[in-house]
Amino acid sequence: MSVEQTVKPITVSDIRARKNGEPLVCLTAYTSLTAVLLDDHVDLLLVGDSLGMVLYGLDSTLGVTLDMMIAHGQAVMRGSKKACVVVDMPFGTYQESPEAAFRNAARVMVETGCDAVKLEGGVEMAETVKFLSQRGVPVLGHIGLMPQSVNQYGFRAQGKTETEAKRIMNDAKAIADAGAFAIVIEGTVEAVARKVTKTVAVPTIGIGASPACDGQVLVTEDLVGLFKEFTPKFVKRYSELGDGIASAAKQYAKDVRARKFPGPEHCFGMKPPPKSKRK
Ligand code: KIV
Repeated sequence: MSVEQTVKPITVSDIRARKNGEPLVCLTAYTSLTAVLLDDHVDLLLVGDSLGMVLYGLDSTLGVTLDMMIAHGQAVMRGSKKACVVVDMPFGTYQESPEAAFRNAARVMVETGCDAVKLEGGVEMAETVKFLSQRGVPVLGHIGLMPQSVNQYGFRAQGKTETEAKRIMNDAKAIADAGAFAIVIEGTVEAVARKVTKTVAVPTIGIGASPACDGQVLVTEDLVGLFKEFTPKFVKRYSELGDGIASAAKQYAKDVRARKFPGPEHCFGMKPPPKSKRK
């Protein structure tokens, strides 16, 4: 008898319930292969629009389209059985109005089958977060350093001044009150992230926002040493897969040029002719 193990998927409610509990473990995934590798180890897989820079070589996340996010969301959903999967809403697909945001978010939810969407913004996005949350689209918020606003604020740590600290706190309160089930806090000074985490009733997920948060998220390609263009201060490398790939390619090139690869064990032989029954 085969005992098939049934996996209980982690839901948005499970994530919300982890406030002040065991820290949430979150990583980005853009492909089915990565989702398969990470799924057993994380609570949440984020199909982040960072894929624009990491996979497509763009300078920022601004050139990422809804179709790109949907294609990668579908791939991750094919590879994930357990993790709560959240897909980023790319720049320009939700800022115009709550109605436009709903139309695009509904496409993401229906076409990928993901659990929730993530969008950047605080007070100014609260109405949209409420509109989506009340209509069946769970929202993961994203405040502090917001890469889609790079042209306005740059890529620098947030919350260093009293004014910034107040803005971040107001942003967190506004989207938590609007119904976000959790909030990503990116690139924010520890004291502010700590205060926000103590204040809001939903889990905070930090990236460069200190261990005070209810969970942590990193870009997987940073974690494993595949993306080396730029390494933020808050990244810890747990592996050097980029070096491994480069050295495998170097060895392969050497073997092909020396006709050492493929070897006989990699070749298909011809079948021997069938034996005749008559003598
Ligand atoms: O796009 C992304 O990967 C993100 C994480 C860095 C939080 O938003």
